[in-house]
Amino acid sequence: MAKPLSFKQKLPGILVCCFAAFGGFLFGYDTGTISGNIAMNSWLRRFGTFSPTLTDFQYYIPSSTKSVVVSIMAVGEFSGALLSSPVADSIGRRFGIVLGCLVLSISVAMQTGAQELGLFIAGRVIGGVGIGLVSGIIPMFQSECAPKWIRGTVVAGYQWFITIGILIANIVNNATKDFSDDSAFRIPIGIQIVFAAILAFGMYFLPESPRWLVKNGDNAGARKALARLNAADADSAELDVEFKEITDAFEAEIALGESSYADCFKNNDRKVRLRTLTGIAIQGFQQLTGVNFIFYYGTTFFKQAGYTDSFIISMITSSINMVTTIPSFYLIEKIGRRKLLFWGAVVMCACEFIVAIIGVGAGTANHSAQTILVVFVCVYIAAFASTWGPIAWVVLNEINPLNIRAKAVSMGTASNWFWNFLIGFVTPYLVDSGVGDANLGAKVFFIWGTTCFFCAVFAHFFVYETKGLSLEEVDNLYINHTARESVTVALKRQSDEETKNVGEFVPSN
Ligand code: BGC
Repeated sequence: MAKPLSFKQKLPGILVCCFAAFGGFLFGYDTGTISGNIAMNSWLRRFGTFSPTLTDFQYYIPSSTKSVVVSIMAVGEFSGALLSSPVADSIGRRFGIVLGCLVLSISVAMQTGAQELGLFIAGRVIGGVGIGLVSGIIPMFQSECAPKWIRGTVVAGYQWFITIGILIANIVNNATKDFSDDSAFRIPIGIQIVFAAILAFGMYFLPESPRWLVKNGDNAGARKALARLNAADADSAELDVEFKEITDAFEAEIALGESSYADCFKNNDRKVRLRTLTGIAIQGFQQLTGVNFIFYYGTTFFKQAGYTDSFIISMITSSINMVTTIPSFYLIEKIGRRKLLFWGAVVMCACEFIVAIIGVGAGTANHSAQTILVVFVCVYIAAFASTWGPIAWVVLNEINPLNIRAKAVSMGTASNWFWNFLIGFVTPYLVDSGVGDANLGAKVFFIWGTTCFFCAVFAHFFVYETKGLSLEEVDNLYINHTARESVTVALKRQSDEETKNVGEFVPSN
């Protein structure tokens, strides 16, 4: 019998996944860049509205324009996410990602060259389609190429790259914001072409997903790709186990039959409907934590709250977002998904109410109150980054049964972009003080505090604890238990493992 593949041999596969995670960087960079763009004088002068009554700077952006400029991208991302599954199936994971980069590059050219707002907005929609494709295909490619034991970490790693992208966008915005001409915003936007080119170029040379090749009947190609991912010879017996796993899984998929979107909502003993709806809801609730209020409108919000250095605060919040994602890699497996989601939501809820109360009680001139406000915004971001940020993606990717997984995951991802759009769209109307706006200012945090309360309720009643379980065990868990009972099952499993009495996991009824 051939010896199992060593860690050293698996290294190329791990590196391929790390490189692919760079797609998360594109996603994050795009999220982070618009917040600073719309707060820049040069951007406002080019695309904003002139008002002689304004004293400081005579250009502004009305809420109606701001909401379209920011949220329209999510419309493209929503479509791109839904398209990602058929695109990746027909042209392959690698070329699907390359196509996403190409579409993004076209959009970047449009936005960078735009003299009118119309072209800028059209560019953002198209860019959204590119990012939607990339964001849908990368986790799929990663989970098909990564060794089993690091799949969860790989998904969390993808989220980490999103946070790095947001941070770098804020750093670039801060570096160029004072340029007197349009290059202040054109550079941060234009630079994305370089990132897209790096990803596309790299993907071109990387191996294709062996699973996709098997699905397309190219077993020889699949073995070659597997050999590259595992530093082995394509004919070597060392690859037999992995290769058999892939072909077995494919045959199992065929046996289960092609499933439709309607199958994802069947209310059977495997609780398929509950699982699909949990994936869709968890992504919606992730957006309803209000986190993108900070990443989309943070710079403008802090500016209105009286901060002259609002760009610096955005860099601080995005650094905290990036750094506090790191502990989640460990905590997700140690503490578990449910507990982290519940307590994450509780902490965010408390912080948001505090921010709202301070914002309402203290004027913009009260600097110590404003500092406390920023501190609580930072704690809130840290609570998000170490819990709901990565876990919403981890849960979405692991709770669905094989035969509906691709469809259920793409609907969950689309739900993320749908809520992302809705929140991005309504927020300026809620926060701003123009005609017809609700003028909530910091009071908007009362809304996010309330939605976070519901996030905690949702986590408590609907999220199953799936740490340490194989995907088959997750199936059994749903068949035999409620979400709250799943905690006992996870604890039992953990203590079994700790006493080295692992045995086979058979959940009790
Ligand atoms: C969310 C994004 C958000 C980012 C912040 C992601 O998981 O889906 O909408 O901007 O986290 O780090």
